[in-house]
Amino acid sequence: MIPIPAALTLLGLALAAPAWAQQAAPTPAPASGDIPTPFVIKPAEAYDVSKLPDDHYGRMVRYGKELSERTFAHIGPEVKNPRMRFAGNNLACTSCHQNGAAKPHAMPWVGVHAAFPQYRAREDELSTVAERVNGCMERSMAGKPLPLDSREMKAFETYIHFLSKDVPTGATVVGQGLPKVKMPNRRADTVAGAKLYVEKCAACHGENGAGVRAGAPGSATGYTFPPLWGKDSFNNGAGMNRLVFATTFVYTNMPLGSQHGQPQLSLDEAYDIAGYMLSQPRGTKANLERDFPARWNKPVDAAFPPYVDGAPADQHKLGPFPPLAENMVKLKDKLLKESGR
Ligand code: HEC
Ligand code: HEC
Repeated sequence: MIPIPAALTLLGLALAAPAWAQQAAPTPAPASGDIPTPFVIKPAEAYDVSKLPDDHYGRMVRYGKELSERTFAHIGPEVKNPRMRFAGNNLACTSCHQNGAAKPHAMPWVGVHAAFPQYRAREDELSTVAERVNGCMERSMAGKPLPLDSREMKAFETYIHFLSKDVPTGATVVGQGLPKVKMPNRRADTVAGAKLYVEKCAACHGENGAGVRAGAPGSATGYTFPPLWGKDSFNNGAGMNRLVFATTFVYTNMPLGSQHGQPQLSLDEAYDIAGYMLSQPRGTKANLERDFPARWNKPVDAAFPPYVDGAPADQHKLGPFPPLAENMVKLKDKLLKESGR
């Protein structure tokens, strides 16, 4: 596999080491009263797994990191043992959860152990860390859930535990999830998005969105640059298939080297590019109508039926979202009353 910096040079692109990899984030001022101080994700050295002892815990953390970065090589669709083919695509967890899942504002796993069990609207249930991992297995990885007692699930849980070990239970982490970004109040312009995609993204992800494979097809070696659509990408039930998530991820983290507070795209550009990306074909997840069974919890950009607000499918896919969100607030009271909750 070509290391990413070398591959970038091949493509004529320079990649500066991002600031979050070089320096510690500033410590926030202590909060007053009962408000707990938010936890700040540490610099990369703090999450160095090679320093852990060669005991049960250390070995599981290391396997968890390896599984996250080279998912395709262990549980991908091209691995030799058919019984180990749990993921349906050749992405890695870290295709999205960047920097070993320790990059702020790119859905880091730092603190995830302290935040679960957690109510999840998609299931309308309390969810454990393992169930959350399987959420990404079935959607982002377009595959099957891992058995809860498998070595692989234990490894994911242990790596997440290791990343979270200094975060007190219930604490908030600066850069948890994705930042809150206010979407443009218009429909995403997929024609403008297509043009911008060629300028800003295609050098790495390919004009056809298929990415750049690290080795021959079938070799279970994954991608140097991951695919953004098509059958080897996340499916239509993934969080990344929602325009608000995709816009925010792209605005904050792409092109490669971008980070929160230092975007390389305007929000309008990210919105149109993401709209274009999500208008391309991809795999489908069965039974999506079962998601968000408490319908008042369904995010307005979850672009699959049923649509209880009666708005057209196209608006749920490409916006404008603010009118939908406003309408949903009103509808929520009515739906809640009807449900008797
Ligand atoms: C295509 C992008 C993508 C890939 C690949 C991906 N995820 Fe995710 N993951 C997301 C997004 C987006 C979210 C947050 C949005 C949501 O809640 O749906 C998320 C959330 C999570 C969370 C919860 C984080 C939090 O702050 O609560 C965990 C844990 C997680 N993913 C684990 C995994 C694991 C393990 C893999 C690989 C087996 C994986 N993900 C692969 C996109 C991805
Ligand atoms: C310099 C190369 C490069 C450029 C340019 C680039 N990306 Fe990426 N992108 C990557 C790499 C590499 C990853 C995997 C994550 C990592 O290694 O940090 C990635 C991951 C992603 C992901 C999540 C994984 C997936 O396959 O879905 C999305 C979405 C994405 N990029 C969208 C874009 C968009 C949209 C643009 C244009 C605005 C863009 N990228 C520009 C290299 C690039």
